[in-house]
Amino acid sequence: MPPQLKRLIPLFAIFIFLFLAARSFLVPKSFGEQGHYRFNSIAENKEKAMIYAGKEACDDCHSDRIQEMETDLHKGISCETCHGPGSAHIANPDSIKPMIPKGRDFCGMCHSLNPSRSKLVHQVDLKEHNVTENCIECHNPHLPCQMKK
Ligand code: HEC
Ligand code: HEC
Ligand code: HEC
Ligand code: HEC
Repeated sequence: MPPQLKRLIPLFAIFIFLFLAARSFLVPKSFGEQGHYRFNSIAENKEKAMIYAGKEACDDCHSDRIQEMETDLHKGISCETCHGPGSAHIANPDSIKPMIPKGRDFCGMCHSLNPSRSKLVHQVDLKEHNVTENCIECHNPHLPCQMKK
């Protein structure tokens, strides 16, 4: 055996031992139980409280709005996209009110001019399009094709 291997082999053995020792400390317990992921994470996520309720849940009390929205271009957008998580409001509708988005930047999240974005959603230049007013002074958020003025 060449003399340099006599040093290298034990050195590698030490590295492999250190690697295995570190691995046994660092890899979470349930990793690999059902696949290449930490199996316990499923149980942990199941315990988290749900904050979004889904559009169907709004239908119980606001079916008029849902039907109204079906007739216009925002029909594909869920209520909670604009009004935020709704579970707390559904549990206590009189004391907990959902968010009402008012600012221009909010509508701009989907509509602000951005050359890299698909033109399927109409874009306006927030710095030029009727800058002195909020979008909802003119556009009805539930019926975007209808103008308030
Ligand atoms: C159990 C009945 C109930 C359900 C379900 C419900 N709401 Fe309401 N909501 C109410 C009541 C009652 C009010 C207060 C009266 C009103 O403004 O119509 C209200 C008011 C609102 C308001 C106006 C708040 C304000 O400040 O004026 C918004 C926005 C709203 N709800 C959105 C939602 C959304 C989104 C959902 C579905 C995630 C939802 N609601 C589900 C009963 C409900
Ligand atoms: C594109 C964003 C958007 C979506 C989607 C949306 N809303 Fe709204 N909603 C608003 C805005 C903005 C206002 C405030 C309107 C105003 O002050 O003129 C509002 C107001 C309301 C109000 C208060 C009453 C009123 O007209 O002022 C209720 C109730 C409501 N929305 C329910 C819903 C429900 C239920 C859905 C789903 C079917 C929904 N909204 C979807 C943006 C949205
Ligand atoms: C989650 C993304 C999203 C948000 C937030 C949103 N919109 Fe829209 N909007 C759409 C989509 C999708 C359409 C349908 C495609 C289109 O016509 O541009 C649409 C259509 C429209 C149209 C009709 C455009 C046309 O074809 O003439 C107007 C006006 C409009 N939205 C205004 C608003 C206003 C005002 C707000 C804020 C209250 C808002 N939108 C918030 C996604 C969004
Ligand atoms: C003073 C009233 C007024 C305000 C405020 C306003 N708009 Fe408009 N918007 C209009 C009118 C009128 C049109 C149709 C003529 C045009 O295209 O300019 C329009 C058209 C649009 C269109 C369709 C553009 C297209 O390519 O067909 C979108 C999307 C839109 N507005 C979004 C917004 C958003 C988002 C805001 C807030 C940042 C806003 N608007 C504020 C009056 C207004």
